[in-house]
Amino acid sequence: MAGGASTPDLVTAVGEEGGLGFLAAGYQSAEALAAQIDAVRALGDRPFGVNLFVPWAGLAVLSDAARAGRQERVHEYARVLAAAGHPVGIPDAQDDDRWAAKLDVLEQRECDLVSFTFGIPPAAVMRRLASRGTTIVLTVTSVAEARAAVEAGADALCVQGPDAGGHRGTHDPLAEPGTLPLAGLLAQLKSIDVPVIATGGIATPKQARSALAAGADAVQLGTLFLPTPESGAHPAHKAALTASGTCGTVVTRAFSGRSARGLDNAFIREWGPVAPAAYPEVNQLTQPLRAVAAKSGDGEHLALWAGTGHREAVARPAAEVVERVVGWVAS
Ligand SMILES: Cc1cc2nc3c(=O)[nH]c(=O)nc-3n(C[C@H](O)[C@H](O)[C@H](O)COP(=O)(O)O)c2cc1C
Repeated sequence: MAGGASTPDLVTAVGEEGGLGFLAAGYQSAEALAAQIDAVRALGDRPFGVNLFVPWAGLAVLSDAARAGRQERVHEYARVLAAAGHPVGIPDAQDDDRWAAKLDVLEQRECDLVSFTFGIPPAAVMRRLASRGTTIVLTVTSVAEARAAVEAGADALCVQGPDAGGHRGTHDPLAEPGTLPLAGLLAQLKSIDVPVIATGGIATPKQARSALAAGADAVQLGTLFLPTPESGAHPAHKAALTASGTCGTVVTRAFSGRSARGLDNAFIREWGPVAPAAYPEVNQLTQPLRAVAAKSGDGEHLALWAGTGHREAVARPAAEVVERVVGWVAS
């Protein structure tokens, strides 16, 4: 979980209880990622994975007219945000989240389990990882994405349903993410012959068991780990997740330009209807206003990513979350 929630402590706590934790490479520098990998290894010897954002290849092949239209929509969003008094960041469509440097870190640190979201890495990267024996997990949100991922050489799929907290891993960021419920999506993937990890809105024994019954080999959870003491989620985020008056989640492009599910708040209500489908530019535009909100603990202007199961999240140690989930699927 990028953005601070996944920490070496969280990954270690999950691993020690028999789960498989993932570090989040997204948004951070290659140096910070390397330091987190070293920190997990210093804390123990349990296996863990690293998750990366795949930069969108489609940007490079946009027509001049499409690129100009996109720029115009981003500038208009920047203009209306600034007119409303928000500090606004500088958009940079070329920002690839330090993709090459992070791949180098994975190689230098000999990471043998890597997952990707937002797309399929280029064939040369897939070959490079495979030649080193890396286990490659690709996130998919539809049958078509699953087929493409297997064809590209995925060793396992992370199948993300529409109830998931945070960004949808949809490969085409301009497309509206699919709404087929997780169990339905899994049922359509029964003929896929690589292991399937099911994720998205899993927060009760029934949901975990129904994912396994629908063909998943494992379940993955995000939101339930957010309020744990080991999570690095902002205190306002943790508090909002477990607050009794929380008004549920919505899918929005308001904060990043990519569809993501989070707790409904004032920023989403005001800006969700006008935010353009332009990641990473919108994410860059809203970075300063999110930083201001983080400083003052203003949950109405923070991206409070959460899945639909957030009401089941409790501020208990991560080991207890893993223990609970293991109990659900073992009984
Ligand atoms: C705060 C937050 C950050 C996330 N960051 C990432 C990420 O960096 N990479 C990724 O593949 N998925 C990310 N996700 C999505 C999760 O991997 C997973 O699909 C989702 O949390 C599952 O749904 P759940 O939250 O309902 O359990 C994030 C989710 C949350 C809540």
